[in-house]
Parts: sequence; structure tokens; C-alpha cells
Amino acid sequence: MINQLLPELTPRIAAFRRDIHAHPELAFDENRTACKVADYLEALGLETHRGIARTGVVAKLSLGLGSRAIGLRADMDALPLKELNSFPHHSKHEGKMHACGHDGHTAMLLGAAEALTKLRNIDGTVYFIFQPAEEHEGGGRVMVEEGLFERFPMDMVFGLHNWPGMPAGSIGVTEGPVMAGTDRFDITITGRGGHAAMPHQTIDVVVAGSALVQALQTLVSRNTDPLHPAVVSVTRFQAGGVADNILPETAVLGGTVRYLQPNLQEALEEGMRRVCTGIEATYRVRIDFKYAHGYPPTVNATEPSFIAREVARQVVRDGDVLTSLPPSMGAEDFAYLSRVVPGCYAWLGNGAGEGGCMLHSPHYDFNDDIIPLGIRYWVRLAERALAAR
Ligand code: NI
Repeated sequence: MINQLLPELTPRIAAFRRDIHAHPELAFDENRTACKVADYLEALGLETHRGIARTGVVAKLSLGLGSRAIGLRADMDALPLKELNSFPHHSKHEGKMHACGHDGHTAMLLGAAEALTKLRNIDGTVYFIFQPAEEHEGGGRVMVEEGLFERFPMDMVFGLHNWPGMPAGSIGVTEGPVMAGTDRFDITITGRGGHAAMPHQTIDVVVAGSALVQALQTLVSRNTDPLHPAVVSVTRFQAGGVADNILPETAVLGGTVRYLQPNLQEALEEGMRRVCTGIEATYRVRIDFKYAHGYPPTVNATEPSFIAREVARQVVRDGDVLTSLPPSMGAEDFAYLSRVVPGCYAWLGNGAGEGGCMLHSPHYDFNDDIIPLGIRYWVRLAERALAAR
């Protein structure tokens, strides 16, 4: 039974977590972390693959005759942030910090790997996926591009993220979109600069840009379904210099687009392009529009969500399973995995979030008290998902 392993396992995993916390590494640079992770998995006797997407690690546990396979995924990267905590395991790497709890995710998945290896009660294959670069660079995408699912075929994939503000001891599993897709855009408007007192001799990019910002706001309010959340935010608008008698030649704008329904990406990109074309015609400017696809929306599929919910109900009290949490408009790299293979990304309560202990805060710390619950969830999930059908 997993419960008999936990009293001895938990403190070791907590110590591992604090060591990772003290030595944070940024995207694709998780060399020390990945090495410690892979060494740990090899010491368990698991077939371990290093160097996938540079620092990613995948280990395989295959038992019994079952043909089903699942992936359990943790992220390993830290953030470029100066830690303001002073406890003994605070960051030893200036300007880097585990402010999103990926230290805890990594440690808990190692704990689950050890527990499942010792329990030997699964029938099928579990892949333990430790991915680099969740925060910015899309390490999950690179793992998929490097053949994650061809090398390690699996029926379902699961993710788990700690969530400050949700009580410790609670788990959130919601079917459907849970995190947003996030794209970015860059726009350069070119007109004709000149004397501000003779605007008829210029092509004014400030007026054109202002109209563009306004018109872009009609995409979400007038073009997309009000029941499908989306955001178009212009976050930069740079034009002109210090002189108040010069109309500038160019204006540069940029911003972010967020959406929960995967099909909104195309609609929003096309809509923005259409608006730009209209502004070009109306204001006689030239517009260079660049749209870059970022993390897709994280959408939890039906079967893995059902299984995750069932398992959550086994490992915590019934009232502590939250099944209809509103989605977050933040983005999550797990989406690159779960858009290929049916997946479920669950939230594990990290506690009240007091004292600035929120994600990406310099005062954040992963809550070691939730380690046993995280391990129990992973272990029961592996057992249950491989028995599914
Ligand atoms: Ni995170």
C-alpha cells in the first residue's frame, strides 16, 4: 500500500525538493536538475532516457501484460526572478527562482516513480516525463517535435500543477479548457512623417494607430461568441520622439491574444489581419502585421478527466475535489502534449497563498505538506488509468 511507503518516502522527497529549490535553473538549462532526476530514476532501475529537448528526461516502468500506456508529466524549470525569501533553502542562484513550484512537481513525480517501482501493482506502462522550459520556451513542444509520442507511445497523458489560493489537501479537475492559448503580435505602421502644423502633407501614423487599437477591440466584443472567452490586448504603442511639432514616420504596436477554444486562434488572427487591411485603406498607411502562435489552449479530454476526478475522490475528502473551477487565462506548455494525446491537467491546492505565496511571486514557496497527496494522486492515477476500459 502506498500509505505504508509515504512516512519514509515523503521526507526524502521534501529534501530533494528543497535542494532543487535552492538550485534553480532556467529554460533548457536545467542540467543539474535533469542529471539529479535521471540519476534518481536510474537508481530505481528504470529505463531512463536523457537529453530529450536538451534537458528533458523520460523514464519507463513496464509491468504485467497490459498493453496500455500513460504519461505522467512534471516540469523542471525556474523563473528569472530574484527570490525574496530567507529560509535556508532559498535560491543560491542570483536572479533565478523556483517561483512556480516546478521543484515540487519534479520531486513529487520522482516520489511516485519510486512508489510505483516498489509497489509493482500496475499492469501496463507508465512513462515519467520531466520536461524542460515550461515557462517560456515551450519545452513540451520541443519534446513532441523530437518524437516523444513516437518513441514512447501512450494512450493518455496527465499533468499536475500546484495552485496557491486553493486549500492544501484539495484537487481541482475540470473537463474542457482549463488554461488559455496565448499568441503575440507585432505591428509596424508606416506613413509619412512631417510637420505637425501641416498634417495634410503627412500620413499620420498616430491617428491610424489609435484607430487600429480601437478597431482591434471590436474583434472580441463584436466578432467572437460571447460565451467563448478571448482577450486581445495591445500592450505597446510607440511613436514619435520628444518634439511636439513632428509627426512620426512610423508607429510600432504589439500585444497578446488569449483564448480558450482552439478554433478561435484562426478567427482572431484572420480578424486582426482584416482590421489592419481596413486601416491601411482608410488611413493610407502601410501596415506590417506579424502574428506568432504561442502555447495552445490546455483542454482536458473526457476520459482522462473522468479518471482523474475519480482518483481525486479516492485520495482526498469528497468536498475537496473541485470539478468546476473557472479556467485560467494564463497559458501552460502541457497543452502541446494534450493536444496530441488525450490528457488531463489537474490543480493541487498549495494553501491559502498568504504572505505573497502566489505563483511567480518573489515570496512564493512550494508547500511540502502537499507532497504525500501529490504522490498518492500520481500512484492511484497510474493504477486506475492502466486498468481503464
Ligand atoms: Ni508553473
